[in-house]
Amino acid sequence: MDGNTAPAAVATAPVDWYVDPAFWPKERTGVFAKSWQFVTHESALPEPGSWVSDNIAGWPILLIRGEDGQIRGFHNVCRHRAGPLTQGEAGKCEGPITCRYHGWAYMWDGRLRAARDFGRAADFDPREFALYPVKVELWRGLVFVAIEQPDGSLADWVAPIERRLAGKDWSDLKVGLKRAHPIACNWKTYVENYLEGYHVPSIHPSLDAEIDSANYTVSMDGLVALHEAPQRDPNAVYEGLWAWMWPNLGVNVYGRGLMMERMSPVGPGQVRLDYTYLTPDGEPVSDQTLAMSDVVTAEDRWVVERVQENLQAGAYIEGRLSPKHEVAVAAFQAMVRRAIAQ
Ligand code: FES
Ligand SMILES: [Fe+2]
Repeated sequence: MDGNTAPAAVATAPVDWYVDPAFWPKERTGVFAKSWQFVTHESALPEPGSWVSDNIAGWPILLIRGEDGQIRGFHNVCRHRAGPLTQGEAGKCEGPITCRYHGWAYMWDGRLRAARDFGRAADFDPREFALYPVKVELWRGLVFVAIEQPDGSLADWVAPIERRLAGKDWSDLKVGLKRAHPIACNWKTYVENYLEGYHVPSIHPSLDAEIDSANYTVSMDGLVALHEAPQRDPNAVYEGLWAWMWPNLGVNVYGRGLMMERMSPVGPGQVRLDYTYLTPDGEPVSDQTLAMSDVVTAEDRWVVERVQENLQAGAYIEGRLSPKHEVAVAAFQAMVRRAIAQ
């Protein structure tokens, strides 16, 4: 083989990225504040006053549907002394959004309506104390937020996925189920595992039995990685699409609906997998689907937690990424490098 024409084996990212808590604040601002983050489907906010709360890499956020039907997003932080505006994950406001700490009340569009029993203060103008907004954009009913303006619209970001959906209709989808799996590893350890099929034959025997892992490919298109895993049975109808979008979202499209897999960092050493299943009219997800998902998640969890321990142990310095299987891992690491350099 002519070694000069073969691609280079890219070096892995520095171990500090995965184990040094000082790296985490750079990622919060460089990666997570400036990216489109999936939160929920618009059906989870059915009417004016419906709200959903979430946490994006340490930023508590609140989505609420206004009188005008529009979904808006805010930091879930009161402008008085930073109290939380809601309790729980979702609900419906009958009146203004009222902070429980001292009772400041906000309109559904974020304006401060009343600072309860504040007293007379000549220089206090409630118009200056609206909730801090976050950006909200929708794609096919899926609601995304951004703390700061990302480079490009949500439509730009999802375009590589949209192109492959070829007119698929999602208009009847609703949230069928949400599940969360905490995993003890850095979020990037998990994302990188998601971005390659190299480990499928050894870590996922039952998945390997269904797909032709020798021909498993992952390719990049913009900020999206696309997995292609032909089924072993040539007669099987493969209509799935298994995609990932920078920085932490799996978009797993099935014949009937889809599963959004957000790999939510919870500090530098923990990630929580937030699975949102969207099904026709919110119909229940089959036991078979959930059982298969549990098996694959447990297998991945086992290996990524061991990798994280080994990264922390100190022996490992640097490896090489396979040009055949780990192109998307290399692309991801390059994206992280760019994001934290800004
Ligand atoms: S912190 Fe919200 S009313 Fe005081
Ligand atoms: Fe896996």
